Amino acid sequence: MAKHGFKAIQALDKAYVLHTYARANVAFVKGKGARLQDTQGKDYIDFGSGIGVASLGHSPKALQKALKKSAKTLIHTSNLYYIEPQAKLAARLVEYYKRGSSDKAQWRVFFGNSGAEANECAIKIARKFGEKSGRYKIITLDSSFHGRTIATLKATGQDKFHKHFAPFPDGFVRAKNLADIPNKIDSQTIAVLLELVQGEGGINALDKKQVQDLAKILKEQNILLIIDEVQSGIYRSGEIFASKVYGIEPDVITMAKGLAGGVPIGACMTRLVDVFESGDHGSTFGGNFLSTNAGLAVLKTLEKMRKDKVLDVAIKYFHTKLDSVLKHYPAIFSKRVGLGLMCGLQVRNGEILTQIISVCLQHRVLVLRSGGNVLRFLPPLNITKGEIDEGFVRLIHALKELKIPQKPKNTK
Ligand SMILES: Cc1ncc(COP(=O)(O)O)c(C=O)c1O
Repeated sequence: MAKHGFKAIQALDKAYVLHTYARANVAFVKGKGARLQDTQGKDYIDFGSGIGVASLGHSPKALQKALKKSAKTLIHTSNLYYIEPQAKLAARLVEYYKRGSSDKAQWRVFFGNSGAEANECAIKIARKFGEKSGRYKIITLDSSFHGRTIATLKATGQDKFHKHFAPFPDGFVRAKNLADIPNKIDSQTIAVLLELVQGEGGINALDKKQVQDLAKILKEQNILLIIDEVQSGIYRSGEIFASKVYGIEPDVITMAKGLAGGVPIGACMTRLVDVFESGDHGSTFGGNFLSTNAGLAVLKTLEKMRKDKVLDVAIKYFHTKLDSVLKHYPAIFSKRVGLGLMCGLQVRNGEILTQIISVCLQHRVLVLRSGGNVLRFLPPLNITKGEIDEGFVRLIHALKELKIPQKPKNTK
């Protein structure tokens, strides 16, 4: 049981934490695998993994071991000195990315602490790369999400986030969709920044052929392709990066969320290894012993799960469950969306979606919202069959309570 009850935690939070989050009325005290326990001792199935972060679930053994080792030896020394796990993590990321690929370029990695920082790094690489030719514009998509710093907010293609925070840096151009990107290219365009599966924009997986065609056009025009894999990266698609599923060779890939299983980390990986010189970019915390030891433990576990096909099995099983919900509740859902364990169900209207999320919480299964009325699922990647089954039983109980016409269809 928690030292403080829920009401005390809530009161303290309301008094002292800035009110930037619309929090659900629950506080968790511990977790194991895909299960969480709240202050009252009630258990929940976590189909959100802290918005795609707890890639190995809660308190996984591999991460405990890595964090203990760091705590006992070194947590932080700064980037003034060499850091062995940082170098090793960079090497693993490059090695796993290049596995089975024809990409002969050398790649290197910069480490920060978040997705927004990873994207800031990518934007700076693009700006410096284009400096001599006077090119600086970066094209991004409608409904995209790239972060909350001033530059990554401007890159984010959703006006609702821009209100109140102007002026923004110049040089971000919005395209309606993939087909519209070539129309937005001009002599000052240096890069296109894309999520292959828009995480906040409706778990919208872009069309593979269209992405490949765009990649070709950009290469011909010496325009960089930056892929934001902050949410889709680190095996969420079934592969280390969704870029591999799409069969493209970007110039920059950014990542964060699942990379260290919950320890803050962000990384920007690029083939443009000579653009930055010493002093061009940096981070106090980025890539320290704690986060990169955690990253090494997470990558090792997930790479083994990929090799052993355990990840594929979990993905297929989760999709089967989603398809069954879709089939039985056609009045609520219209289609399954996404890729791998970054998936969702399109809900027929926003009010129902709000109801679903809150009723699911009462039935102790955590699910997420995405844009475009999508119920989003980002479960731990090592979620077990039993945890999936139990989560879906709870989800169905919740759906049965919704106040809408939702008679399950008879499907024999
Ligand atoms: C695709 C994408 N890019 C960037 C970000 C920003 O990451 P962070 O919140 O770690 O700064 C997010 C966060 O949700 C994201 O989904």
